[in-house]
Amino acid sequence: MKILVTGGAGYIGSHTCVELLAAGHEPVVIDNFVNSSEESVKRAEKISGKKIPLYCGDVRDGELLERIFNENKIEWVIHFAGLKAVGESCAKPIEYYDNNLGGTMSLLNAMRAHGCKKIVFSSSATVYGTPEKLPLDETCRVGDTTNPYGTSKFFQEIMLSDVCKADGEWSVVLLRYFNPVGAHESGLIGEDPKGIPNNLTPYIAKVAVGELKEVGVFGNDYSTPDGTGVRDYIHVVDLAKGHVAAVNKIKTAGVHVYNLGTGVGYSVLDMIRAFEKACGHAVPYAVKPRRAGDIAACYADASKAKRELGWEAKLGINEMCESLWNWQSKNPNGYRS
Ligand code: NAD
Ligand code: UFG
Repeated sequence: MKILVTGGAGYIGSHTCVELLAAGHEPVVIDNFVNSSEESVKRAEKISGKKIPLYCGDVRDGELLERIFNENKIEWVIHFAGLKAVGESCAKPIEYYDNNLGGTMSLLNAMRAHGCKKIVFSSSATVYGTPEKLPLDETCRVGDTTNPYGTSKFFQEIMLSDVCKADGEWSVVLLRYFNPVGAHESGLIGEDPKGIPNNLTPYIAKVAVGELKEVGVFGNDYSTPDGTGVRDYIHVVDLAKGHVAAVNKIKTAGVHVYNLGTGVGYSVLDMIRAFEKACGHAVPYAVKPRRAGDIAACYADASKAKRELGWEAKLGINEMCESLWNWQSKNPNGYRS
């Protein structure tokens, strides 16, 4: 099946292209490289031994989308393209809404014009805001978001659901990711954040290679077993396979919502210890004040994805940290090395 992968040069998109190819699908990528480079697509091709057609440009560019749909018989779209930095979204809400909502609008217009009515959307656990209960299942309240990035995900879920209500032929799959970490086992593709990482595991990795001095642990007075924040970290390869399961399994129209997580929560200190084991040396850290907007704990009930998609996360915390260390040590400057 030909599948348009928007944002396919990014962290999750590049891993998903590899898994789509392994499953016999044909990904076609559009990316404007605002947070990535062409190199990741070349490396995904190297892992797969197959070519990935790549269109360089913005998903808000309707003429480019028109060309892509004319040149390819696209059956599904997997929509990763978006800006994702929580802090930056508070400083630049207009840019975030323009890019994220504008990109989805433009894509939906092009899909409708070409009769392609099947889309998988990269949503996030962030739509649950402060968890109503733990573990979070798909029926939990959404929308209590605390930043423009999260709100843009919530709005896009509504936009896509409204399209389904208006036209009963659409299939919309909303995948709510928990915390993707790790890298492909080859060490050829991985997460390549620009500047100082905002997220925990890329920060730990940069301390481990000596690029940063110490990990700041944002608070140790939460009501969690060791006082530090607990999250549901999921290996990016498992996450990528969740997309393959969605396009293979969903045959019916309507809105289908799935949590993609492991169902297990690990603390910041658990992650640091697991990373120390993977890299073979100590990772210095210091406890700092809580980060504004953080919640104590967040983990998924991912049983619906297992039941309906036949998908479940297989890789554990050790594989997550080992693969991240493999990527980081082989590519200390990311795709620039
Ligand atoms: P990423 O930044 O690595 O990938 C996003 C890709 O989209 C990048 O290659 C970027 O260049 C591209 N892009 C952005 N705006 C574009 C536009 N207007 N036109 C064309 N390309 C554009 O991020 P990622 O971690 O791979 O995340 C992929 C998706 O998953 C995003 O929508 C993100 O919000 C969502 N998500 C990520 C996480 C996470 O923690 N990584 C968690 C939940 C949801
Ligand atoms: N943390 C630290 N030090 C750091 C970075 C993070 O202690 O340098 C802690 C945080 O306080 C939190 C945990 O590590 O307890 C995880 O933080 P991340 O920034 O890695 O991830 P978040 O859970 O805050 O958010 C991430 C993405 C969101 C996405 C969400 C999905 O940034 O975009 O996962 O669950 F929506």
